[in-house]
Amino acid sequence: MNPIVKRMLGSALARGLAHPSSVDDYLALIDDRLSLAEPRGRVVHAVRQTRDSVTLAIEPNSNWRGHHAGQHVLVGLTLDGVRHSRCFSIASAPGDPLIEITVKRNGAGRVSNHLVDHAQRGQLLYLSPAEGDFCPPSQAPARALLLSAGSGITPVMSVLRTWLSHGASTDIVFLHYARAPVDMIYADELEALAAEHARLQSITVFTGAGGARLDGAALDARVPDLAERETWLCGPAGFMDTAETLIAARSSAPLHREQFAASRRASAHGQGAVQFLKSDIAASGEHGSLLEIAERAGLSPPYGCRMGICHACKCRIAEGTVRDLRTDRVRQVRDTDLQLCIHAAAGDVAIDF
Ligand SMILES: Cc1cc2nc3c(=O)[nH]c(=O)nc-3n(C[C@H](O)[C@H](O)[C@H](O)COP(=O)(O)OP(=O)(O)OC[C@H]3O[C@@H](n4cnc5c(N)ncnc54)[C@H](O)[C@@H]3O)c2cc1C
Ligand code: FES
Repeated sequence: MNPIVKRMLGSALARGLAHPSSVDDYLALIDDRLSLAEPRGRVVHAVRQTRDSVTLAIEPNSNWRGHHAGQHVLVGLTLDGVRHSRCFSIASAPGDPLIEITVKRNGAGRVSNHLVDHAQRGQLLYLSPAEGDFCPPSQAPARALLLSAGSGITPVMSVLRTWLSHGASTDIVFLHYARAPVDMIYADELEALAAEHARLQSITVFTGAGGARLDGAALDARVPDLAERETWLCGPAGFMDTAETLIAARSSAPLHREQFAASRRASAHGQGAVQFLKSDIAASGEHGSLLEIAERAGLSPPYGCRMGICHACKCRIAEGTVRDLRTDRVRQVRDTDLQLCIHAAAGDVAIDF
């Protein structure tokens, strides 16, 4: 949108004239990608690389401020009249005019299944600014290991594309674990990049039907100079735990990790009663995060990452004693906004929901 038009539409006068709807509501009548401040995008390509994934190229509006390699974005869409948002790693390199994400079907998950089955050219998606610190340093390392499994390949792919497009001289081993060849996301591109760039060694290991797992012997054989390599790691929780233990025993070079699901340090055994004030529902002695307790009670608070990074689940705690599931810290709060997904009840809690 033209910046002058944007400033005029953002003025108090325009907001007053638009009332009771928002200026964005009127802009949406012209083009639903238009917004005064919200990043939004339209799908321009939807490619099914594998049977359970879809790769989307999204053209953002002018409110998108770009991203760094390895960052993620909160993607929102409306299903049955309700907006749902989830985090997805951006696989494209910074500077690419299109934002690329690859979504893998997640069990019976709501958003991933919808996108894998129905995403198509023209679909509107709501976006957050890019976030996250799985970013390579501005000075590329001399040697790197990119280690991923399953859909964990997406942020690692962004790191790889960035180095190769910037002509970095990094010697790269890209070691990826997939169930079977038909499940391998970015297979063709990785093969082409490895053929083109002598400094990239791409190794894919298939784990299905008795295939190999990540273990010390495999790592030693495939990456004998691991101690000299800075590592970027992303994959399912079990894979990441194994990889981290193996790498820590072999190398003190920096290890960067991105995870798609929470690993909790603290116990989520609930103590006390949880009251949802606006819904007039109470739960007591329930284990799990306040988000999970709400869901088991039949409520649907918004969420995005379920691990404390996106703030989508923030809710006002009227009063109560809560435990931070990442640090185990217990504190008393009153009239405080907290992320429900990373807090449990450590006493009675009253939530304004
Ligand atoms: C930083 C980050 C980056 C990510 N990048 C990617 C990516 O590049 N590609 C990708 O495919 N995914 C990525 N993810 C994962 C993605 O954000 C979603 O979590 C995933 O797609 C599942 O969303 P969904 O709506 O399909 O599932 P949901 O409906 O949210 O369900 C997810 C899981 O939560 C559980 N669950 C759902 N509802 C309940 C409930 N009521 N009670 C208890 N449990 C419940 C289910 O068991 C289900 O398996 C990323 C996540 C993070 C945090
Ligand atoms: S859902 Fe993202 S912070 Fe809670």
